[in-house]
Amino acid sequence: MDKIKIKGGKQLIGKIYISGAKNAALPLICASLLTDETVTLTNMPMLSDINAMNALLKQLGTQIDAFDDFIDGHKTKTYSYRTPKLTSLVAPYDYVRKMRASYYVLGPLLAREKRVELSLPGGCAIGARPMDIHLSALEQMGAKIEIKNGYVHADAGEGLKGAHIIFRFASVGATCNILMAAVLASGTTKIENAAKEPEIGDLIDLLNEMGAKISGRDSSVLTIEGVKKLHGARHKVISDRIEAGSYAVAAAITRGRIELLNADASTLQTPINVLRKMGVAVEEKENALIVDARNKELTGQDIMTDVYPGFPTDLQAQFLALMLTSKGASMISETIFENRFMHVPELLRMGANINVHGHASAIVRGVDKLYGAPVMATDLRASFALVLAGLAAEGETIVNRVYHLDRGYELLEEKLKGVGADIERIKEPD
Ligand code: UD1
Repeated sequence: MDKIKIKGGKQLIGKIYISGAKNAALPLICASLLTDETVTLTNMPMLSDINAMNALLKQLGTQIDAFDDFIDGHKTKTYSYRTPKLTSLVAPYDYVRKMRASYYVLGPLLAREKRVELSLPGGCAIGARPMDIHLSALEQMGAKIEIKNGYVHADAGEGLKGAHIIFRFASVGATCNILMAAVLASGTTKIENAAKEPEIGDLIDLLNEMGAKISGRDSSVLTIEGVKKLHGARHKVISDRIEAGSYAVAAAITRGRIELLNADASTLQTPINVLRKMGVAVEEKENALIVDARNKELTGQDIMTDVYPGFPTDLQAQFLALMLTSKGASMISETIFENRFMHVPELLRMGANINVHGHASAIVRGVDKLYGAPVMATDLRASFALVLAGLAAEGETIVNRVYHLDRGYELLEEKLKGVGADIERIKEPD
């Protein structure tokens, strides 16, 4: 298993190109299952999660073509997806186990073929993560759901019917799945308490480009008028706000200055406000964000994660790392997932001062110095928090289990090296 070695203490200065958003791309790929025509996605990130989703779609009968592409001189991928006929209606355990987002095939397959079998994803390191909101909405649309041998068996009989659905929680995954289920349903579906994350706006845009009739984008009430058929489309994936936020912290924690090209500041307003309150200068440009912490003494701030436009849970670990090197105390509260402080014990080994209270909050007190250490993370964003601490620490940090980072950070070492980090991947056989 590969490792990443970082020699900390370098001030990071330069430019980083922000890739297409993983969490937008994954449901967009699955939306291609709703038509027998070609759906082409540009500005796609090169990530193992994308490869995993592509493998699942191939197994269902999708023909996929990949092309190298350049946007503003930066290498990206374009993928074309075409599913003339579904050759399987089963999302097997081996695929779903590797990537929870595999559950995005549920809505499209049920809408197009009226039947699907999906291995239940089960819990993961950050919490139990059930699918009750997805399944109860599909039942309200007329599907019969049965859970047998670890699989969800869903059968929509003659087809899904529009329904008035009120989510008990604004789940990102359920909003995407029910949007994709409802576009081909008969009649109108209304989703109340829908999630409003920018990735959902991107999915709505693609579905409408394919001929769907969805209104209410960016609001918590979505109305979907079912149509008989969807057609192909070409769509550019939005830029990754979590990757941009992560590198913004890399600039801040090394007291450097990074220009985040292709970043969309409008999707990062809450984290930008936190950075500004801490004392970081953040300049918002049309298609970029400039984060400058040179010669700044940063002060800790309290953070509470929430659904969009609140503070993203996917940036909690990175901002917690930043608070370690800031003056005073910060309270970090996690309200979305029940077990998302696994980075804390590892950061303590680097000299951090953190007290976790129950599962939901942590008090961080700034320290003068962090010290490099061998560390290991259990999820994607926590791994990046360890990289950040390593960049700021004195001495050498080895981050183990790099496969977590490869799921969600495209060209991580190249991007960080490009702004002056001393970082390298140590290749090791699995
Ligand atoms: C998505 C993101 C993830 C992000 C999260 C919150 C993808 C691939 N993943 O995950 O990176 O951290 O949004 O912004 O886009 N829940 C239920 N029942 C359900 C569904 C969810 O109880 O049926 C709970 C979950 O256990 C969790 C919370 O709701 O505690 C948030 O889940 P949700 O918004 O669905 O997140 P995901 O779509 O899993």
